Amino acid sequence: MFFYSVLKSLLFYFDAEVAHRITINLLKAYKIKNNISHPLLSCNVFGLNFANPVGLAAGFDKNSEVPNNIINLGFGFSEIGTVTPLPQSGNSKPRVFRLKNEDAIINRLGFNNEGFEVVKDRLCKNKKNLIGVNIGANKNSEDFINDYITGIKFFSSTASYITINISSPNTPGLRNLEAADNFSSLLDKIDQLKKNSSEISLPILIKISPDINHDDLESLCEKVLSSSIDGLIISNTTISRYSISSEEKGGLSGEPLFDISTRKLNKVYKYTRGKIPLIGVGGVDSAEKAYKKIKNGASLIQLYTGLVYKGPRLINEINRGLIEFIEKDGFKHISEAVGVEVN
Ligand SMILES: Cc1cc2nc3c(=O)[nH]c(=O)nc-3n(C[C@H](O)[C@H](O)[C@H](O)COP(=O)(O)O)c2cc1C
Repeated sequence: MFFYSVLKSLLFYFDAEVAHRITINLLKAYKIKNNISHPLLSCNVFGLNFANPVGLAAGFDKNSEVPNNIINLGFGFSEIGTVTPLPQSGNSKPRVFRLKNEDAIINRLGFNNEGFEVVKDRLCKNKKNLIGVNIGANKNSEDFINDYITGIKFFSSTASYITINISSPNTPGLRNLEAADNFSSLLDKIDQLKKNSSEISLPILIKISPDINHDDLESLCEKVLSSSIDGLIISNTTISRYSISSEEKGGLSGEPLFDISTRKLNKVYKYTRGKIPLIGVGGVDSAEKAYKKIKNGASLIQLYTGLVYKGPRLINEINRGLIEFIEKDGFKHISEAVGVEVN
C-alpha cells in the first residue's frame, strides 16, 4: 500500500520506540473500520468466538491504549501486555533495534508497563472486543509465581483470556519457570486457584520460548495436558542468533524467527497430540506463512514484527490468502487444516 510505504519511511526515520509512540497516537486519532469475518475463518477456540484467526501479539499495546482500534484494523483478537503487578520502567534505552535487512527486530525492553491497576482500569472502560491480557512478573519480585496468581485473580473478570508469559528473555530468571520442577509448581498453583474459585472460568494460556530444550519441552507438554491450562502460545522471541547483522542483546523477532518457532510449534502439537489449542507466533509476514503455522498445529496465529515492516494491509492480505489456501486444498473450514503437516 502506497500510504504505508510513505508512513513507514517517516516512522523509520525515528528511533524505534519513538516511532511506536507515534503509531499508537495515530491509531488513537484515526478511526479506521475494517473488521474482517468470513465463514471459512471464523472459529471457536478455547470456547471463544473469533471473527478471524489473526491476532496482534503481546508487546505492541502493552498498556491497553488502543485495543479496539487494533481490532478495527482487521485483527480477530488482540493481546495487551505484558503487564506486571507494579508499574516498571524497563531497561535503559536504546532497547529496541530494527534489523532492516532481515525484516527483524531485537528488543530488550524488560516489561516496561504501567502496572495492573492502571491497565485494568483502562481496559474496563473501553473493552468491546476479544482482548487477551498477557501477564508477567516484576523484575524485583521475590516470588514470580505469586505475581502470576495475583494477575489471574486481578484480570479474571476483565480479560477474554489470560496469557502467562514465562518466556521473555529480558527479565532475568523468568525463563527458569519453564524448567520441569518450577513449571510443575506454577501449574499446581494455577490448578488450585481454578479449583477453589468459581469466578475464574476464563481460558488461561502459557506462552513459551522457542529456545526451550527438547527434554523440557516434552515434559512441559505432558504436564500441560494433565493440568487445567487451556492452550499454549508458541513462541516468544529468541536469544539464538543465526546470520544476523546485529550484536545487540535481547529477543529476536520477525523473519529469522519463523523457522525455529514453527518447528517448535510442530513439536508441541505432536507432544500434546492435538488435544489443546495452540497459537502460532513468530515471523508471520504473509498468508503463506500464516497457513504454514496452521498446518503445523496452530488454531490461531499472532504477529507483531510483520506489522512494522508491512503495515496494516498485511492483516487483510493474510485473511484473504487463507481463504484461498483453504479452498484450494479442499477444506470446508480452517479448523480442518490445523496440524495436517505434523507427523
Ligand atoms: C518490541 C517488542 C516487544 C515485545 N513485548 C512483548 C511482551 O511484552 N510480552 C510478550 O509476551 N511478548 C512480547 N513480544 C514478543 C511478541 O509478542 C512475539 O511473540 C514475537 O515478537 C514473535 O512474533 P513476530 O515475529 O510476529 O514479532 C515483543 C516483541 C517485540 C518486537
